[in-house]
Amino acid sequence: MTLRSRNALVIGGAVGIGRAVCIAFAQAGANVAFADLGKQDDKTSLLTELKCMGVDAIALDVDVTDEMSVVETIRRTRESFGHIDILVNNAGVTSAGAPIHQQDWGVWSAIFDVNLKGVAYGMKHVIPHMLERGYGRIINTSSQLAHKPVANHGAYCASKAAVTALTASVAQEVAGSGITVNCVCPGMTNTAMLWVGGTEFVNAKLAALPIGRAGEPEEIASAYVYLASDLAGFFVGQSISPNGGDVMW
Ligand code: NAI
Repeated sequence: MTLRSRNALVIGGAVGIGRAVCIAFAQAGANVAFADLGKQDDKTSLLTELKCMGVDAIALDVDVTDEMSVVETIRRTRESFGHIDILVNNAGVTSAGAPIHQQDWGVWSAIFDVNLKGVAYGMKHVIPHMLERGYGRIINTSSQLAHKPVANHGAYCASKAAVTALTASVAQEVAGSGITVNCVCPGMTNTAMLWVGGTEFVNAKLAALPIGRAGEPEEIASAYVYLASDLAGFFVGQSISPNGGDVMW
């Protein structure tokens, strides 16, 4: 699989799964723009790492809840690279969780604004550019919780199920234009986000996994490289789920 001379934009790329995707893309030869909220130290270290790999790389600030910020991120990436071949919408947040009868609507809205609206903004503003070029690979980050929801995380599970449905819907809108739209539904992955649900909850879930451990971000990133490659041209609106065997079909 090669992404040589492809230009990728990874939104939510400074740490965790997004960071691993940036590095995997660069290993496959792509130029990488990544954008994130704050996290200047993480951005500086990732930018240095990517440049050492011999690809073009830029780091940008974005808040995916602000549509104009997403527009500006896409504009600046095009300004630096000329065009965008690959967009990854990876920014995501979760919460400590609460049953629906104790749900704080501010938390609910914050989760949907990042996890769902952020993905929609990215697709809305990159697709016209990709249509002009007749080529594109869009990969959204959903979650295996879209397929196997857990209690007390209704907002997160519902937001990710919505990402999966949105992916399949938009994939049909652009199918045949040279653009593919798919999503990755990671299982429990060893990042800061994993532990937000609490150690006891996470350890119990990990013990119940067939593989008995969390995935590493690099094990998730390989799915993005595949979907971004020319080998994946027949994947339309799919959910790929590296999840240690938790959900199988
Ligand atoms: P993380 O917390 O390490 O990374 C999330 C990234 O999103 C961070 O870089 C953060 O700054 C960025 N972000 C959050 N709000 C943002 C905003 N408003 N604008 C721009 N960037 C923003 O977590 P992780 O695990 O790397 O998560 C990456 C994606 O994978 C998320 O969409 C998450 O929901 C999803 N996921 C994670 C799983 C896990 O077990 N770690 C499992 C399934 C899905």
